[in-house]
Amino acid sequence: MGCLHVAILCDDVGDHSEALRSLDMCIIMGGPLLRPNLDAVVQWIIASWTVTNESKGRNSDRMVPEEHSKGLDLAKNTMIIASGHKDFFCQSFPTLGAPHISVSVVSEAQELPPVAKGLSYTFYKTSCPQVENIIRKHLKGEFKKDIGLAAGLLRVHFHDCFVQGCDGSVLLDGSASGPGEKDAPPNLTLRPSAFKAINNLKALIDKQCGRVVSCADITALAARDSIVLSGGPDYRVPLGRRDGLEFATREATNDGLPSPASNVTILLKVLSKLNLDATDLVALSGGHTIGLGHCSSFSNRLFPSQDTTMDNTFANNLYKTCPTGTTNKTTVLDIRSPNVFDNKYYADLEHKQGLFTSDQDLYIDKRTKEIVTSFSTNQALFFQKFVASMVKMGQLNVLTGNKGEIRSDCSKKNSKEGLWPIIVDGEEGQDFLAF
Ligand code: HEM
Repeated sequence: MGCLHVAILCDDVGDHSEALRSLDMCIIMGGPLLRPNLDAVVQWIIASWTVTNESKGRNSDRMVPEEHSKGLDLAKNTMIIASGHKDFFCQSFPTLGAPHISVSVVSEAQELPPVAKGLSYTFYKTSCPQVENIIRKHLKGEFKKDIGLAAGLLRVHFHDCFVQGCDGSVLLDGSASGPGEKDAPPNLTLRPSAFKAINNLKALIDKQCGRVVSCADITALAARDSIVLSGGPDYRVPLGRRDGLEFATREATNDGLPSPASNVTILLKVLSKLNLDATDLVALSGGHTIGLGHCSSFSNRLFPSQDTTMDNTFANNLYKTCPTGTTNKTTVLDIRSPNVFDNKYYADLEHKQGLFTSDQDLYIDKRTKEIVTSFSTNQALFFQKFVASMVKMGQLNVLTGNKGEIRSDCSKKNSKEGLWPIIVDGEEGQDFLAF
């Protein structure tokens, strides 16, 4: 039962080799009882693997072919057959239950969150079908020059969504009316290279499709590709966000983005306002598997004295990088694999090597500790929950339909003069006239 469950989870998140390994285990354990069904499921996974690989880079609109859904049904039926023989499996092989236990400590929903009203997976199917290919290809080239850009882009999407929703408002420069959201303290360490990359992508896309793709959607897709191109899971992003007309105030920005000195109680409070739970918190914090932090972001753990929840060698190395709390230097967020999107961040936490209070407390607080352990022992589970939480986060308070606008320059809102209105694809064939 356990290995079947794991195989399905792994295949769901695209980790086909792990799925096959798990099925191998099922065949060994299940013996003749389930062999015909299991063999068929193996064939299905291999077929879906081939098709996914073939379609990569060719067509971003990945539909599930009929034989795959049949395969999925078959796998599910096999699960049901296996459930019927639960006693046989559990008595003979008690350890098979283990993956199941780690699944059950995280919140129940296994499916992707629903698509928000006004968004869809096929939003640019006719107006800019190549948008996802343009972004993936461009970023692949950029990451070869600077892999740190991936972390920068992922963080921009998070900072965009947590403040006033995913409306691209964090991308706007300040104006005569005052400093922008970009200038609020939590955003001062967003990478200029990330803003530049989004502007470059916008220019590339507009050149091929016209002004139809929003900066908020480009940011969400760039975050997804940052994850994928760093070794993380691939997933589909609901599209159709429109760009906000106003940026948030400094107060709203400070309120929306928790400080790295926050404990789990504070973090859960901030996230609950956005309908995100403890599993979302632990999964999304896994974004810290890539990227850097400045001394000032963790100086509270070193000065005036060392945080007792920190590993000593780890702390001593941090003192070398940051002899004072205001030293303007950076260090990696995940010491085990700083540029790879994997589950090693959770192993860091288990070894008292989390960088921020907000990281380490996830392994101290009993509401989140078991979730950390489940992700550290099961990368497929982490990937699955991370994808679900990213899709949720990416749909927070989105502007759709004829709200907001499609900017022509991501760092400035459109001026009314000189811009022609455009026809905007809406849900179910409705079109809008918009600026
Ligand atoms: C849960 C609350 C969170 C807190 C308190 C937090 C705090 C921080 C801080 C202080 C930094 C370093 C800034 C610096 O010193 O340069 C950082 C970096 C980063 N954060 Fe978070 N973060 C949180 C959640 C997230 C989420 C949800 C994601 C994405 C899913 C994310 C992705 C990143 C990435 C990728 C970096 C590295 C950026 C770079 O290298 O440029 N963080 N975070």
